[in-house]
Amino acid sequence: MSGVFNRPRVFFTRRRVPGAVALLESRFDVEVWPERTPPPREELLKRLAYCEAIVTEIDDVVDEAALRSAPNLRVVANRAVGLDNVDVGAATRLGVLVSNTPGVLQESCADFAFAMILALARNVPYADRQVREGAWTMFDQSPYLGTDVYGATLGIVGLGGIGEAVMRRAMGFDMRVLYHSRSRRSQAERDYGGEWSPDLDSLLASSDFVSLHVPLTPETDRLIGRRELALMRPTAFLINTARGRVVDTEALCEALTEGSLAGAALDVTDPEPLPPDHPLVGMSNVIVTPHISSGSAATVRRMGMMAAENVVAALTGGEMVSCVNPAAANRG
Ligand code: GLV
Repeated sequence: MSGVFNRPRVFFTRRRVPGAVALLESRFDVEVWPERTPPPREELLKRLAYCEAIVTEIDDVVDEAALRSAPNLRVVANRAVGLDNVDVGAATRLGVLVSNTPGVLQESCADFAFAMILALARNVPYADRQVREGAWTMFDQSPYLGTDVYGATLGIVGLGGIGEAVMRRAMGFDMRVLYHSRSRRSQAERDYGGEWSPDLDSLLASSDFVSLHVPLTPETDRLIGRRELALMRPTAFLINTARGRVVDTEALCEALTEGSLAGAALDVTDPEPLPPDHPLVGMSNVIVTPHISSGSAATVRRMGMMAAENVVAALTGGEMVSCVNPAAANRG
């Protein structure tokens, strides 16, 4: 199939960033999925059969079978930094370029991780719910007594752009910061005072707050399971703004029910979305938000524009801002 002007065809799986759609419409034949929900598999495959480019969201699964059904596809531009929804290895083998959106969302995500830390530690959502339910009838702080964030130890698991932005914010709260990452980051240590913990277990055992910032990969799938949760202090809190599957949900429910963990703040869950009758939703020491950590208006727009600029570059022979598999250009 070819467009009226034989222009390359691009499929947007959602109209999240109108400016990004407009940018591509000025150059290509663009089709946008009209719903707020992702296109069902068969609708996605239908477009992949003739498109040269696709702009995806994190809940669009672009696996090897989908890539194999796309003979003209040259680029998958994911409007996200995480790429666990795209089979990058298969894309590389098939000569399809893949891009993500690094560098534009870490400050918004770090703000949100801190919002979670503070809200959880000081019982903000619980207190707000009590007021709305009419339970504020006198001055009495005792049902809401929280944990101080200042001076506490924060364990950061994964020191990419987001983890580092969280570390920088922790300085302002006079926190001791431990970080776990494969390689030591001496500059971040000098600049923000973090201490490298090559051993995840000791970070878990020594932290008051553990904040997860690793991508979801086979190595990080259920990185925080029953054993790891048991290492954490009963007074500690877990914050997950990375991917739901980095944590074993069943083990987390058990730890929170038994009281071997003080609370959790989850912007990402497994499954996602979390059904409203899920046990985690009923726990007063748990905060659940709908995967919104990068979701400031400005950041969502920047992510969308970056995805669109990647498509323009890939289809016009320019340099993509954030291609994760440049080797694909030599295949296909
Ligand atoms: C959002 O979850 C992202 O990966 O950008």
